[in-house]
Amino acid sequence: MAALSFPVHAGEVEVLHYWTSGGEAASLKVLQKMMSEEGHSWTDFAVAGGGGETAMTVLKSRVISGNPPSSSMIAGPEIQNWGELDVLANMDEVAKAGKWNALLPENIADIHKYEGHYVAVPVNVHRINWMWINKAILDEVNGGKVPTDWDGFFAFMDNATKAGYIGFSHGGQDWQDATVFEQIALGTGGTQWYQKAFIELDQDALKSDEMTQAFERFKKLKSYMDSGMPGRDWNLATAQIIEGKAAVQIMGDWAKGEFTAAGKVPGEDYVCAAVPGTTDSFTFNVDAFMMFNNQSKDNIDAQKTLAKLLLSKDFQEEFNLRKGSIPVRPDVSLERFDSCAKLSMSDFKAASINKTLMPSFSHAMAMQPEVSGAVYDAVTNFFNNNEQTAEQATEKLASAIASAL
Ligand code: BGC
Repeated sequence: MAALSFPVHAGEVEVLHYWTSGGEAASLKVLQKMMSEEGHSWTDFAVAGGGGETAMTVLKSRVISGNPPSSSMIAGPEIQNWGELDVLANMDEVAKAGKWNALLPENIADIHKYEGHYVAVPVNVHRINWMWINKAILDEVNGGKVPTDWDGFFAFMDNATKAGYIGFSHGGQDWQDATVFEQIALGTGGTQWYQKAFIELDQDALKSDEMTQAFERFKKLKSYMDSGMPGRDWNLATAQIIEGKAAVQIMGDWAKGEFTAAGKVPGEDYVCAAVPGTTDSFTFNVDAFMMFNNQSKDNIDAQKTLAKLLLSKDFQEEFNLRKGSIPVRPDVSLERFDSCAKLSMSDFKAASINKTLMPSFSHAMAMQPEVSGAVYDAVTNFFNNNEQTAEQATEKLASAIASAL
């Protein structure tokens, strides 16, 4: 009798993603389980590498060789480039049935459409401008006081180091360097300056004293990192906070997924707080699943089911509880979410009203890949080169952006 509950057309989805850490894998499992309950099978195509750079390279080669997966993770304006290649599947029918236009904020919906048609499905809103602090270390060395400006931040770093802890937990990979630099820059120059420099790519803002000061702070931060930093994966940096070895990590709230997976509770084991100088801002990225043209009818059915599930209330709740992000669907109750998620949502709403909601350039939301690639290179080169001054880095960044445009 059980067979009767299976759909008539069982299909398969192959999904390319880079969610391989503990928290990420737990989040993805929610989707795999829901697909299997619908009777469809899931072929997992995981390409390790935080931030997804490697995954995007692999995706390109799969599509160019005429063998795209059914769906791939993606974020931001890059979706338009894929649309131009005429390889994406139209999800309008599912969107219409699920009333996506009424459900999603218009600017978020638009990112996931190509020429007015839905080709990708957003699942969350990640906030990037977070510090993740070990609570016991904060209490022991800083009297429990969360630093809110850069002087206070570096004093906390000094106190943590003196007490024998690693001050700042970091993984030296270009995208992590860019993530931390983005936050220092925002916290140094402020939201309007960030908008001018990194969204409008205004040369004056790029070459300003704010940028030089941000580079100086970034280099200073390096002196609080441990010798295991080069090449370390982001989730291993988070693990150092969880294990009480290091005081702070600056990272998007996918880091919270690691605390959750380890059974840690905000306010008790760790503290989430906005990066100094960024309390009123909200830098974000939105993870999405992009859909590719498919030949088989059964697999098209499976792909449409995937699209429907991704925006379902149930999935949005269960997934985001594990992922660390907040639901992209505004009508999901936050009752079961923790204090960091609740703060994220209220700051997100305030930032939307105050126009301080900023797309993250380090997470593909603000620039085309050639431009963000040039920024990654300039930032990482400076970080790894002890000879280069902050002034030189400022010049190099501005000229690298100009030539990438
Ligand atoms: C993605 C997250 C992911 C993180 C680390 C970010 O760019 O938005 O979903 O967890 O990279 O891989």
